[in-house]
Amino acid sequence: MNPLNHVAIIMDGNGRWGLKYRNSRNAGHKEGLKTVEKIIKASIKYKIKFLTLYAFSTENWKRPKKEINYLFNLLENFLTHRLNDIHNQNIRIKILGDKKFSTKLNNLLNYAEKKTSKNSKLQINLALNYGSKLELLNAFKKINKKKIKINEKNLEKHLQTKYIPDPEILIRTGNTKRLSNFLLWQLAYSEIFFEKKLWPAFTEKDYKNIIKNYKNIKRNFGKI
Ligand code: IPE
Ligand code: IPE
Ligand code: MG
Repeated sequence: MNPLNHVAIIMDGNGRWGLKYRNSRNAGHKEGLKTVEKIIKASIKYKIKFLTLYAFSTENWKRPKKEINYLFNLLENFLTHRLNDIHNQNIRIKILGDKKFSTKLNNLLNYAEKKTSKNSKLQINLALNYGSKLELLNAFKKINKKKIKINEKNLEKHLQTKYIPDPEILIRTGNTKRLSNFLLWQLAYSEIFFEKKLWPAFTEKDYKNIIKNYKNIKRNFGKI
């Protein structure tokens, strides 16, 4: 059975779900948050140590302002109301991506990271204004500036995922098979599960099935 420490998820399909069932993309984002809660709970149950959630990409700024504002309000509300509970469950929150939001949200994110920094049951990496190409470029720039050798070890030390093991599993919901600029380096050997269901419709059972399938995969890493 394959060990499992880290699951990464591209939570896609909120907009389509919202349009289909509530006639509003934003309603889909709200519903998607319920799935986030379910998957956090399930991750603890399955003793997963790292859960990385792609919540907003560097490319998502191209969306209408109204939708962007709605997403960040949702996040603000979530953190304001749920942070204590998250902390009490011994969950650590870490942000991947550039914190370039409103002062209020930046402060809230910094506070959440600081408050939960010693927690050890589950680490949630929230990818927000995250883009893998930007992350890699920034890493190369830092290495260049320090005049140190470009090798795997040094590169990984300068990624935002420093201290985080690579994900064994990547899940993308929403019936689309692409990476959308997510963890391009870190996913080099991950097992990828493309799920047809839209994120708000994704269930704990779907999650459990993926984990079960993963556990039995023969992972070669180039060997035979
Ligand atoms: C959620 O799904 C991903 C976010 C950027 C928050 P989408 O909003 O991309 O939903 P679809 O793909 O348009 O259905
Ligand atoms: C990927 O979903 C980003 C997140 C889930 C946050 P998108 O819906 O933005 O991806 P594309 O644009 O369809 O590739
Ligand atoms: Mg999408």
